[in-house]
Amino acid sequence: MTLRIAVLGAGGVGGYFGGRLAEAGYDVRFVARGEQLAALRRDGLVVESVAGDFSVGSVVATDDPAEIGEVDYVLLGVKTWQLGEAIKSLQPLVGPGTAVVTTQNGVEAPREVADAVGQDAVLPGAVEIIAFLDGPGRVRHIGGPAKLTFGEWDNRVSERVERLRDALQASKLTAVVPADVWVALWSKFLALGSFGAVATLADAPFGVLRGRPGLRQLIVDSMNEIKQVAKATGVELPADALDNTLAFLDSLPEAGTTSLQRDIKAGKPSELEAWTGAVVRLGRQTGTPTPVNTILYELASARSQAGPQAN
Ligand SMILES: NC(=O)c1ccc[n+]([C@@H]2O[C@H](COP(=O)([O-])OP(=O)(O)OC[C@H]3O[C@@H](n4cnc5c(N)ncnc54)[C@H](OP(=O)(O)O)[C@@H]3O)[C@@H](O)[C@H]2O)c1
Repeated sequence: MTLRIAVLGAGGVGGYFGGRLAEAGYDVRFVARGEQLAALRRDGLVVESVAGDFSVGSVVATDDPAEIGEVDYVLLGVKTWQLGEAIKSLQPLVGPGTAVVTTQNGVEAPREVADAVGQDAVLPGAVEIIAFLDGPGRVRHIGGPAKLTFGEWDNRVSERVERLRDALQASKLTAVVPADVWVALWSKFLALGSFGAVATLADAPFGVLRGRPGLRQLIVDSMNEIKQVAKATGVELPADALDNTLAFLDSLPEAGTTSLQRDIKAGKPSELEAWTGAVVRLGRQTGTPTPVNTILYELASARSQAGPQAN
Protein backbone atom coordinates (compact mmCIF):
# COMPACT_ATOMS: atom_id res chain seq x y z
CA MET A 1 0.00 0.00 0.00
CA THR A 2 1.44 3.35 -0.97
CA LEU A 3 1.76 5.92 1.74
CA ARG A 4 -0.10 9.20 1.46
CA ILE A 5 2.10 12.02 2.69
CA ALA A 6 1.22 15.70 2.94
CA VAL A 7 4.03 18.22 3.21
CA LEU A 8 2.84 21.39 4.90
CA GLY A 9 5.45 24.06 4.19
CA ALA A 10 7.37 23.34 0.99
CA GLY A 11 10.60 25.20 1.75
CA GLY A 12 14.16 23.93 2.15
CA VAL A 13 13.21 21.00 4.39
CA GLY A 14 9.70 20.25 3.11
CA GLY A 15 10.75 20.64 -0.53
CA TYR A 16 13.79 18.39 -0.19
CA PHE A 17 12.28 15.61 1.95
CA GLY A 18 8.94 15.74 0.12
CA GLY A 19 10.72 15.84 -3.23
CA ARG A 20 12.83 12.78 -2.44
CA LEU A 21 9.76 10.85 -1.26
CA ALA A 22 7.87 11.83 -4.43
CA GLU A 23 10.86 10.88 -6.59
CA ALA A 24 10.80 7.43 -4.96
CA GLY A 25 7.15 7.02 -5.93
CA TYR A 26 5.28 7.87 -2.73
CA ASP A 27 2.02 9.80 -2.97
CA VAL A 28 3.23 13.22 -1.81
CA ARG A 29 1.05 16.31 -1.82
CA PHE A 30 2.30 19.75 -0.94
CA VAL A 31 0.45 22.50 0.90
CA ALA A 32 2.10 25.68 -0.34
CA ARG A 33 1.25 29.28 -1.08
CA GLY A 34 2.13 32.32 -3.17
CA GLU A 35 4.78 32.06 -5.87
CA GLN A 36 5.95 28.73 -4.50
CA LEU A 37 2.52 27.20 -5.10
CA ALA A 38 2.27 28.70 -8.59
CA ALA A 39 5.74 27.42 -9.55
CA LEU A 40 5.11 23.91 -8.16
CA ARG A 41 1.89 23.66 -10.16
CA ARG A 42 3.37 25.14 -13.32
CA ASP A 43 6.88 23.68 -13.45
CA GLY A 44 7.02 21.01 -10.73
CA LEU A 45 9.86 20.80 -8.23
CA VAL A 46 13.50 21.17 -9.21
CA VAL A 47 16.16 20.08 -6.72
CA GLU A 48 19.87 20.75 -6.97
CA SER A 49 21.54 18.48 -4.45
CA VAL A 50 24.97 17.35 -3.36
CA ALA A 51 23.35 13.90 -3.24
CA GLY A 52 22.29 14.14 -6.90
CA ASP A 53 20.04 16.59 -8.74
CA PHE A 54 16.49 15.57 -9.57
CA SER A 55 13.13 17.00 -10.50
CA VAL A 56 9.54 16.02 -9.95
CA GLY A 57 7.60 17.07 -13.02
CA SER A 58 4.07 16.50 -11.91
CA VAL A 59 3.53 17.85 -8.41
CA VAL A 60 0.24 17.85 -6.53
CA ALA A 61 0.17 21.18 -4.70
CA THR A 62 -2.61 23.23 -3.18
CA ASP A 63 -3.23 26.00 -0.68
CA ASP A 64 -6.34 24.19 0.53
CA PRO A 65 -5.58 21.13 2.73
CA ALA A 66 -9.23 20.03 2.38
CA GLU A 67 -8.43 19.20 -1.27
CA ILE A 68 -5.91 16.66 0.02
CA GLY A 69 -7.92 15.23 2.92
CA GLU A 70 -6.68 12.69 5.44
CA VAL A 71 -3.19 11.29 4.92
CA ASP A 72 -0.94 8.74 6.62
CA TYR A 73 1.74 11.31 7.48
CA VAL A 74 2.00 15.07 7.56
CA LEU A 75 5.53 16.40 7.33
CA LEU A 76 5.50 19.86 8.91
CA GLY A 77 8.10 21.97 7.14
CA VAL A 78 7.32 25.49 8.33
CA LYS A 79 9.53 27.70 10.51
CA THR A 80 8.84 27.77 14.25
CA TRP A 81 7.29 31.24 14.08
CA GLN A 82 4.92 30.03 11.32
CA LEU A 83 3.72 27.03 13.29
CA GLY A 84 0.68 28.66 14.90
CA GLU A 85 -0.83 29.54 11.53
CA ALA A 86 0.14 26.22 9.94
CA ILE A 87 -1.49 24.27 12.78
CA LYS A 88 -4.79 25.97 11.95
CA SER A 89 -4.74 24.35 8.50
CA LEU A 90 -3.81 20.87 9.75
CA GLN A 91 -7.26 19.62 10.61
CA PRO A 92 -8.45 18.37 7.16
CA LEU A 93 -5.22 16.35 6.81
CA VAL A 94 -5.51 14.56 10.14
CA GLY A 95 -7.70 11.52 10.74
CA PRO A 96 -7.55 8.72 13.30
CA GLY A 97 -4.55 7.09 11.59
CA THR A 98 -2.52 10.19 10.77
CA ALA A 99 0.92 10.94 12.21
CA VAL A 100 2.12 14.54 12.14
CA VAL A 101 5.91 14.68 12.05
CA THR A 102 7.56 17.83 13.36
CA THR A 103 10.90 18.92 11.90
CA GLN A 104 11.24 22.31 13.57
CA ASN A 105 14.41 23.25 15.33
CA GLY A 106 13.95 23.54 19.09
CA VAL A 107 12.06 21.41 21.59
CA GLU A 108 8.60 22.99 21.70
CA ALA A 109 7.02 22.23 18.31
CA PRO A 110 5.75 18.73 19.26
CA ARG A 111 3.81 20.12 22.23
CA GLU A 112 2.44 23.02 20.19
CA VAL A 113 1.16 20.60 17.54
CA ALA A 114 -0.06 18.08 20.13
CA ASP A 115 -2.19 20.75 21.78
CA ALA A 116 -4.08 21.05 18.48
CA VAL A 117 -4.27 17.46 17.17
CA GLY A 118 -3.63 15.34 20.26
CA GLN A 119 -0.39 13.85 21.52
CA ASP A 120 -1.05 10.44 19.94
CA ALA A 121 -1.07 12.03 16.48
CA VAL A 122 2.42 13.54 16.81
CA LEU A 123 5.80 12.05 15.99
CA PRO A 124 8.40 14.48 17.40
CA GLY A 125 11.27 14.89 14.95
CA ALA A 126 14.35 16.87 13.99
CA VAL A 127 16.19 17.26 10.70
CA GLU A 128 19.85 17.58 9.80
CA ILE A 129 20.38 19.14 6.41
CA ILE A 130 21.51 22.37 4.82
CA ALA A 131 18.89 23.21 2.24
CA PHE A 132 16.98 26.29 1.15
CA LEU A 133 14.65 27.64 -1.50
CA ASP A 134 16.62 29.09 -4.36
CA GLY A 135 13.61 30.70 -6.01
CA PRO A 136 10.04 29.45 -6.43
CA GLY A 137 9.90 25.70 -7.05
CA ARG A 138 13.68 25.35 -6.71
CA VAL A 139 15.37 23.71 -3.73
CA ARG A 140 19.11 23.68 -3.15
CA HIS A 141 20.62 21.06 -0.87
CA ILE A 142 24.21 22.06 -0.21
CA GLY A 143 25.18 19.79 2.68
CA GLY A 144 24.27 17.78 5.72
CA PRO A 145 23.13 14.17 5.80
CA ALA A 146 19.43 14.84 4.91
CA LYS A 147 18.49 13.02 8.07
CA LEU A 148 15.19 12.87 9.90
CA THR A 149 15.39 11.68 13.51
CA PHE A 150 11.96 10.89 14.87
CA GLY A 151 9.95 8.62 17.11
CA GLU A 152 6.78 8.12 19.09
CA TRP A 153 6.17 10.43 22.03
CA ASP A 154 6.86 7.47 24.38
CA ASN A 155 9.64 6.02 22.19
CA ARG A 156 7.71 2.86 21.26
CA VAL A 157 8.89 1.55 17.90
CA SER A 158 5.40 1.41 16.42
CA GLU A 159 4.35 0.15 13.02
CA ARG A 160 3.85 3.70 11.75
CA VAL A 161 7.37 4.61 12.86
CA GLU A 162 8.79 1.60 11.02
CA ARG A 163 6.79 2.37 7.87
CA LEU A 164 8.01 5.94 7.79
CA ARG A 165 11.60 4.88 8.45
CA ASP A 166 11.37 2.40 5.56
CA ALA A 167 9.86 5.03 3.25
CA LEU A 168 12.59 7.57 4.05
CA GLN A 169 15.33 5.00 3.57
CA ALA A 170 13.81 3.98 0.25
CA SER A 171 13.97 7.64 -0.82
CA LYS A 172 17.70 8.36 -0.48
CA LEU A 173 17.08 9.95 2.91
CA THR A 174 18.56 8.99 6.27
CA ALA A 175 16.08 7.97 8.94
CA VAL A 176 17.00 7.51 12.59
CA VAL A 177 14.66 6.22 15.27
CA PRO A 178 16.61 6.91 18.47
CA ALA A 179 16.22 5.09 21.76
CA ASP A 180 14.83 8.33 23.20
CA VAL A 181 13.54 11.00 20.83
CA TRP A 182 13.52 13.67 23.57
CA VAL A 183 17.18 13.09 24.33
CA ALA A 184 17.81 13.42 20.58
CA LEU A 185 15.85 16.70 20.33
CA TRP A 186 17.45 18.19 23.44
CA SER A 187 20.93 17.06 22.37
CA LYS A 188 20.48 18.98 19.13
CA PHE A 189 19.04 21.87 21.12
CA LEU A 190 22.29 22.15 23.11
CA ALA A 191 23.91 23.37 19.90
CA LEU A 192 21.06 25.52 18.61
CA GLY A 193 20.34 27.22 21.90
CA SER A 194 23.97 28.12 22.52
CA PHE A 195 25.65 28.64 19.12
CA GLY A 196 22.86 30.71 17.57
CA ALA A 197 22.69 33.54 20.09
CA VAL A 198 26.46 33.71 20.68
CA ALA A 199 27.09 33.80 16.93
CA THR A 200 24.45 36.50 16.50
CA LEU A 201 25.97 38.74 19.17
CA ALA A 202 29.55 38.11 18.10
CA ASP A 203 28.51 38.48 14.45
CA ALA A 204 31.02 35.73 13.78
CA PRO A 205 31.29 32.36 12.00
CA PHE A 206 31.95 28.97 13.64
CA GLY A 207 35.73 29.36 13.26
CA VAL A 208 35.70 32.40 15.54
CA LEU A 209 33.20 30.92 18.03
CA ARG A 210 35.35 27.87 18.64
CA GLY A 211 38.70 29.65 18.34
CA ARG A 212 38.21 32.41 20.91
CA PRO A 213 38.49 30.87 24.40
CA GLY A 214 36.03 33.37 25.86
CA LEU A 215 33.32 32.66 23.28
CA ARG A 216 33.91 28.93 23.61
CA GLN A 217 33.43 29.22 27.37
CA LEU A 218 30.26 31.26 26.85
CA ILE A 219 28.90 28.42 24.72
CA VAL A 220 29.81 25.90 27.42
CA ASP A 221 28.10 28.03 30.09
CA SER A 222 24.99 28.35 27.92
CA MET A 223 24.94 24.60 27.27
CA ASN A 224 25.27 23.81 30.98
CA GLU A 225 22.12 25.83 31.61
CA ILE A 226 20.30 24.10 28.75
CA LYS A 227 21.29 20.73 30.21
CA GLN A 228 19.80 21.75 33.57
CA VAL A 229 16.59 22.96 31.92
CA ALA A 230 16.35 19.63 30.05
CA LYS A 231 16.73 17.80 33.35
CA ALA A 232 14.02 19.94 34.95
CA THR A 233 11.65 18.97 32.11
CA GLY A 234 12.43 15.29 32.69
CA VAL A 235 15.12 14.76 30.04
CA GLU A 236 18.48 13.54 31.32
CA LEU A 237 21.17 14.23 28.74
CA PRO A 238 24.14 11.84 28.65
CA ALA A 239 27.33 12.79 30.51
CA ASP A 240 29.21 13.33 27.23
CA ALA A 241 26.48 15.51 25.62
CA LEU A 242 28.42 18.78 26.03
CA ASP A 243 31.69 17.29 24.79
CA ASN A 244 29.88 15.86 21.77
CA THR A 245 28.35 19.25 21.00
CA LEU A 246 31.74 20.95 21.25
CA ALA A 247 33.20 18.28 18.95
CA PHE A 248 30.34 19.05 16.54
CA LEU A 249 31.21 22.77 16.72
CA ASP A 250 34.82 21.87 15.93
CA SER A 251 33.69 19.87 12.89
CA LEU A 252 31.67 22.68 11.30
CA PRO A 253 33.08 24.75 8.41
CA GLU A 254 35.32 27.60 9.54
CA ALA A 255 33.22 30.20 7.69
CA GLY A 256 29.82 28.58 8.42
CA THR A 257 27.10 30.51 10.25
CA THR A 258 23.79 29.73 11.95
CA SER A 259 20.43 30.45 10.28
CA LEU A 260 19.55 32.50 13.38
CA GLN A 261 22.40 34.99 12.94
CA ARG A 262 21.80 35.23 9.18
CA ASP A 263 18.08 35.92 9.64
CA ILE A 264 18.60 38.49 12.40
CA LYS A 265 21.35 40.23 10.47
CA ALA A 266 19.11 40.42 7.40
CA GLY A 267 16.26 41.86 9.48
CA LYS A 268 14.05 38.81 8.75
CA PRO A 269 11.79 36.99 11.20
CA SER A 270 13.95 34.55 13.16
CA GLU A 271 13.63 31.47 15.36
CA LEU A 272 15.16 33.25 18.38
CA GLU A 273 12.02 32.69 20.48
CA ALA A 274 12.22 28.93 19.84
CA TRP A 275 15.96 28.75 20.48
CA THR A 276 17.43 30.86 23.29
CA GLY A 277 13.98 32.30 24.05
CA ALA A 278 12.78 28.77 24.82
CA VAL A 279 15.73 28.14 27.14
CA VAL A 280 14.79 31.21 29.17
CA ARG A 281 11.04 30.50 29.10
CA LEU A 282 11.38 26.82 30.04
CA GLY A 283 13.93 27.77 32.69
CA ARG A 284 11.44 30.17 34.22
CA GLN A 285 8.62 27.59 34.04
CA THR A 286 10.71 24.94 35.80
CA GLY A 287 12.44 27.23 38.29
CA THR A 288 15.84 26.63 36.66
CA PRO A 289 18.22 29.62 36.66
CA THR A 290 19.40 30.65 33.18
CA PRO A 291 21.41 33.86 33.76
CA VAL A 292 23.74 33.37 30.78
CA ASN A 293 20.95 32.56 28.33
CA THR A 294 18.82 35.41 29.70
CA ILE A 295 21.56 37.90 28.83
CA LEU A 296 22.10 36.28 25.41
CA TYR A 297 18.37 36.34 24.72
CA GLU A 298 17.83 39.96 25.78
CA LEU A 299 20.77 41.22 23.72
CA ALA A 300 19.87 39.12 20.68
CA SER A 301 16.22 40.25 20.91
CA ALA A 302 17.28 43.88 20.98
CA ARG A 303 19.52 43.26 18.00
CA SER A 304 16.71 41.58 16.05
CA GLN A 305 14.39 44.50 16.76
CA ALA A 306 16.95 46.92 15.37
CA GLY A 307 16.31 45.68 11.81
CA PRO A 308 18.81 44.77 9.07
CA GLN A 309 22.49 45.32 9.83
CA ALA A 310 25.20 46.30 7.43
CA ASN A 311 27.83 43.72 6.53
N1 LIG B 1 16.69 24.40 5.93
C1 LIG B 1 17.55 23.72 6.66
O1 LIG B 1 18.65 23.44 6.20
C2 LIG B 1 17.18 23.27 8.05
C3 LIG B 1 18.08 22.45 8.76
C4 LIG B 1 17.73 22.02 10.03
C5 LIG B 1 16.52 22.41 10.59
N2 LIG B 1 15.68 23.22 9.89
C6 LIG B 1 14.40 23.59 10.51
O2 LIG B 1 13.33 23.15 9.70
C7 LIG B 1 12.22 24.06 9.79
C8 LIG B 1 11.84 24.49 8.37
O3 LIG B 1 12.91 25.27 7.87
P1 LIG B 1 13.12 25.62 6.33
O4 LIG B 1 14.50 26.12 6.21
O5 LIG B 1 12.67 24.51 5.47
O6 LIG B 1 12.13 26.85 6.16
P2 LIG B 1 11.71 27.60 4.80
O7 LIG B 1 12.67 27.28 3.72
O8 LIG B 1 11.46 29.01 5.16
O9 LIG B 1 10.36 26.87 4.42
C9 LIG B 1 9.15 27.08 5.08
C10 LIG B 1 8.10 27.04 4.01
O10 LIG B 1 6.82 26.89 4.64
C11 LIG B 1 5.94 27.79 3.99
N3 LIG B 1 4.81 28.05 4.87
C12 LIG B 1 4.83 28.66 6.05
N4 LIG B 1 3.61 28.69 6.60
C13 LIG B 1 2.80 28.11 5.69
C14 LIG B 1 1.40 27.85 5.66
N5 LIG B 1 0.60 28.20 6.68
N6 LIG B 1 0.88 27.24 4.58
C15 LIG B 1 1.68 26.87 3.55
N7 LIG B 1 3.01 27.08 3.52
C16 LIG B 1 3.55 27.69 4.59
C17 LIG B 1 6.78 28.99 3.71
O11 LIG B 1 6.15 29.83 2.78
P3 LIG B 1 6.34 31.44 2.85
O12 LIG B 1 7.70 31.69 2.27
O13 LIG B 1 5.22 31.93 2.02
O14 LIG B 1 6.26 31.83 4.30
C18 LIG B 1 8.05 28.33 3.18
O15 LIG B 1 7.93 27.98 1.84
C19 LIG B 1 12.71 25.21 10.67
O16 LIG B 1 12.29 25.07 11.99
C20 LIG B 1 14.22 25.11 10.59
O17 LIG B 1 14.90 25.63 11.70
C21 LIG B 1 16.00 23.66 8.63
